[in-house]
Amino acid sequence: MSAKGGPQFWQIARCDTGQQRDMSKIRLAIVGVGNCASSLLQGLEYYRHLGEQTRPVGLMHYDLGGYRPSDLEVACAFDIDRRKVGRPLEEACFAPPNNTALIWRDLPRYGVTVQMGELHDGIAPHMCSYPADRTFVPSSASPADIEAVLRKTGAEVMLCYLPVGSQKAVERYARACLETGVSLLNCMPVFIVSDEKWASEFAARQIPAVGDDVKSQLGSTILHRTIMKLFAERGIRLKHTYQLNTGGNTDFLNMLDRSRLGTKRKSKTEAVQSALPERMPDVDVHIGPSDYVAWQNDNKVCFLRIEGEGFAGIPIELELRMSVEDSPNSGGVVIDAIRCLKLARDRKIGGPLYSIAAYTMKHPPVQLADSIARERVEKFIAGELER
Ligand SMILES: NC(=O)c1ccc[n+]([C@@H]2O[C@H](COP(=O)([O-])OP(=O)(O)OC[C@H]3O[C@@H](n4cnc5c(N)ncnc54)[C@H](O)[C@@H]3O)[C@@H](O)[C@H]2O)c1
Repeated sequence: MSAKGGPQFWQIARCDTGQQRDMSKIRLAIVGVGNCASSLLQGLEYYRHLGEQTRPVGLMHYDLGGYRPSDLEVACAFDIDRRKVGRPLEEACFAPPNNTALIWRDLPRYGVTVQMGELHDGIAPHMCSYPADRTFVPSSASPADIEAVLRKTGAEVMLCYLPVGSQKAVERYARACLETGVSLLNCMPVFIVSDEKWASEFAARQIPAVGDDVKSQLGSTILHRTIMKLFAERGIRLKHTYQLNTGGNTDFLNMLDRSRLGTKRKSKTEAVQSALPERMPDVDVHIGPSDYVAWQNDNKVCFLRIEGEGFAGIPIELELRMSVEDSPNSGGVVIDAIRCLKLARDRKIGGPLYSIAAYTMKHPPVQLADSIARERVEKFIAGELER
């Protein structure tokens, strides 16, 4: 399979409409046209325009198993916000309350109108008391037939970008994947791919899936894991740690409702605990989103502290502050997970993909050290490892 020389006859498939599809492309269904979706699409345009001449920066793989950023295309998109539903996707990406940094203003005409999704628990009650330009505003349109849209548009990989705590909504879209054979890339912390029951359904239907909860390209999780592991490997006894995060996007606003945070805290905390040779007592590890600071917009600031004891019990402390633009940071790993899902589909492999999930997700079905996960991903891409 090569994306370089154009499609071969066997790479052309028909979808429900009878139209021909170029199977060397990867057809995406976007669920939640928020900041992460906007950053990913703008980033794809950035790399498309860079072309082959310049060595692309900011990617772990430019060519992954023959697939390049320009091979990703959008089949359909769902949202529930009245400023996005019914709008062309290229406009919806810039509609409020999206507030991520601008990467590429002139998005192409995708020919995709954002469809009304199924709301369920997508909007937390407290979100209604914030100004419209900062929060979600539900549309009154009737929901589209999700399965019919997925089939009609030839979607292959669904990107789930729903708000933290929308358990029912995520389950509804995951069910649609199972019904239609679309792969799920679950970027948020409702446990589907890492849940045995859901995972076995994806495996039984031979549908590749990756989840849950994106571990950003260089975000607080991978940084915290790496430093904690270093402390432990150098013989430091870890005593306490915290990771406090602030931001001013709708993700942080939504997370002010602590009752929606259960799986997010678990996902972030386990990601750090699992990097240690020995678990720390839960009471000594405090990790989570900490506050909403409106003027930060999509800038996320992470404050990290680690306390330990070194040689002869002498104390050692580390304080670190990292500032990143939150949403493009997720695009840097999602772009690889999408292409691994496509490789699995080409190879007729179904169920959770353990290597790329461990590398790109905070709460994968199986946690691996990041260096081992990386080696396994390379083997998977080369076809030496099944999943
Ligand atoms: N680096 C990162 O940004 C990062 C990392 C890890 C996980 N995540 C997770 O990814 C998810 C998406 O993040 P984001 O910043 O794009 O969020 P966002 O708030 O910008 O976007 C969420 C979108 O979902 C829409 N929505 C809400 N309910 C819906 C429903 N039922 N059906 C369809 N659409 C619905 C909203 O209108 C909005 O457009 C969040 O859960 C976040 O925690 C993000």
